[in-house]
Amino acid sequence: MYSPDQTKKLQQLSISLLKQDEKHPDQKNLNDLREVLRFHEHRYYILNDPLIADQEYDKLFKTVEKIEQEHPDLVTPDSPTQRVSKGLTKDFPPAPHLVPMLSLDNSYNEDDLRDWDRRVRELAKTDNIVYCIEPKFDGASISLIYENDLLSRGATRGNGVTGDDITTNIKQIRSVPLSAKFSDYGIQQIEIRGEVLINKTNFKKYNEQLAEQNLPPLANPRNAAAGTLRIKDPKEVGKRNLEAFLYHVSYFTLTPKHTLPEALQSHSGSLQMLWDLGFRSPMKEAKKFNGIEAIIQYCNDFEAHRDDLPYEIDGMVIKVDSIDMQDQLGMTTHHPRWAIAFKFKARQGTSKLRSVEYQVGRTGSVTPVAKIDPVSIGGVTVSSISLFNEDVIREKDLKIGDMVLVERAGDVIPYIVKPLAELRTGGETEIVFPTECPVCGHPLDKPEGEAVWRCNNINCEAQVVERIIHFTSKDAMDIRGLGDANIRKFFELKFLKDLPGIYELPFDQIRAREGFGEKSITNLQTAIEASKSQPLHRLIFALGIRYVGETTAKTLAHAVKYLPDLQNFSLEELQQLEDIGPKVAGSVYSFFHNWDSLEMLKKLESLGLQLKNEQKEIGSEGNLVGQTFLLTGTLPTLKRSEAEELIETNGGKIVGSVSSKLNYLIVGEDAGSKLEKAKKIPTVKIITESEFLQMVNR
Ligand code: IVH
Repeated sequence: MYSPDQTKKLQQLSISLLKQDEKHPDQKNLNDLREVLRFHEHRYYILNDPLIADQEYDKLFKTVEKIEQEHPDLVTPDSPTQRVSKGLTKDFPPAPHLVPMLSLDNSYNEDDLRDWDRRVRELAKTDNIVYCIEPKFDGASISLIYENDLLSRGATRGNGVTGDDITTNIKQIRSVPLSAKFSDYGIQQIEIRGEVLINKTNFKKYNEQLAEQNLPPLANPRNAAAGTLRIKDPKEVGKRNLEAFLYHVSYFTLTPKHTLPEALQSHSGSLQMLWDLGFRSPMKEAKKFNGIEAIIQYCNDFEAHRDDLPYEIDGMVIKVDSIDMQDQLGMTTHHPRWAIAFKFKARQGTSKLRSVEYQVGRTGSVTPVAKIDPVSIGGVTVSSISLFNEDVIREKDLKIGDMVLVERAGDVIPYIVKPLAELRTGGETEIVFPTECPVCGHPLDKPEGEAVWRCNNINCEAQVVERIIHFTSKDAMDIRGLGDANIRKFFELKFLKDLPGIYELPFDQIRAREGFGEKSITNLQTAIEASKSQPLHRLIFALGIRYVGETTAKTLAHAVKYLPDLQNFSLEELQQLEDIGPKVAGSVYSFFHNWDSLEMLKKLESLGLQLKNEQKEIGSEGNLVGQTFLLTGTLPTLKRSEAEELIETNGGKIVGSVSSKLNYLIVGEDAGSKLEKAKKIPTVKIITESEFLQMVNR
């Protein structure tokens, strides 16, 4: 099967791949890795004559698993990781959902609910609507597939399209039956959705155990549940006593000759069915109502008693009960129109504002950060809170020494709601925003109409360091091994003073310092070398030009063959590029008309960076070979750049406009004129993101 030449080549390739850092694998190597794994499997399983050690095989295997975990879209059905129970797999393989796992639209007050009810009635063209309401469980969402009555797969939500296959861990949850008589309902295959939780008592017990072992406690039950699902030791998962509520049937097929069972014609019917089959559905908690006012009443009653429940809930979910009507209402790209979440009031706490510190960002923006006495809010300790800008401080009339009300918005980012003015003692002091940069002393400037104070000294150390951090970050030049801490350290030691300096690091001096092993130095050198051939759009993004995000960077890269050519674009010409307005154009224009920036580009080029726009490599294999694509609107799960990458790696080509040369237009929400144009050309197929993903995985 493999000629001696191929064998030699693949063995050499294995050796070079084994030298890579498995913790930070390069996705560029994915195909090579797979090729060598297949080769070694053949040596081992077929020829019985392995050429590498088992541990080396494992290392390569794990590297592939890691890349695939980070880029689920790159998983192919023939990847060595996709073999069933070969006994070598340790990570969670990807689990594509049968239908995308959408999220719910949120409402925060009674009027939001009334508006939603009105829209539902208008769309359904009837006032006679039965709603079913149940708790919104605050845990980790899961999807379960049962085939022929057996649990065949349990998965996390992941990115909504593909999750992680956590079947073994799911099997540790005792409230999930391993088999259920779906066949009694004529169901052959079914996908059900639910939430995994850890109840408050078990959560507390578990944290006590951690404390006994001097380990830090887990922040909240939600994180504890989500974290537990990802533990690689199923026994440990079993010990944590997870629970699962199943509340939604997302997909099913019937056995031949069976007609749709009544249970599947209403949401309440499916909750009843799940309950009868041995699942813990919220059948007991759910209630049906005829009008929105009764729903509102039920929400308020439930909220008043939320703390009496043994587990955390963060709201209620209201669903149209009839499945026919649900289908009629359909969904937006993000959420079903037939359901809405009613979010309970966020968790709040109070604390004392001790001081305000000022952080200088990479564009010179000065952000005030409040330092408060640590306070625990909904299980998370908060001590530092961004105040965004000076106006926020003034509008809220904050003073040092104030007692402040703190809330965790969206349950994650904490913010100060207001000072508790009634508790003031008179000893509070004004917050004085600095007039000079706290790092370099340069006078701060606030342009007309902007809220943010800036340090305009582009050589300000804080900015330089932040720029270098941005340059090396994952979505930019992706120089692993040169993390924030090293950058700060190298800067302090004067080993690194600007972006080109990354490519001239004094490795001899670094080597002489404690804490830098030969291996980490080699890895760093490899990563720096590899970054030189990053595609042009990444370099443009990495430069940190104000307002130039990943999408704009791609637009700019598409517009030129050689980066410095952007000097020749007038403001008007820049604005003619897709999605570039006056603000972005102005910023790009000044960057390319600034002597320092141009000198820096020259320097980077002389150090070996790629400023030419290499024609992107279009895969010669894949399901999309020979097809042309164009995107319009916002896709539900994929970023535009991700979709473009998927098209190209699968052999498809992206074209610039709608014409008879276009095969597929992928449409998202708020699609523009391209859609209208495409509708007029009969040969152009108009598809959704999920249809596109199906094409890719076919
Ligand atoms: S229904 C297609 N019901 O909330 C609609 N979701 O913010 C499927 N959640 O991703 C969701 N309790 O993880 C539904 N009773 C409940 C829920 C619930 C919690 C979660 C779910 C969803 C998220 C949306």
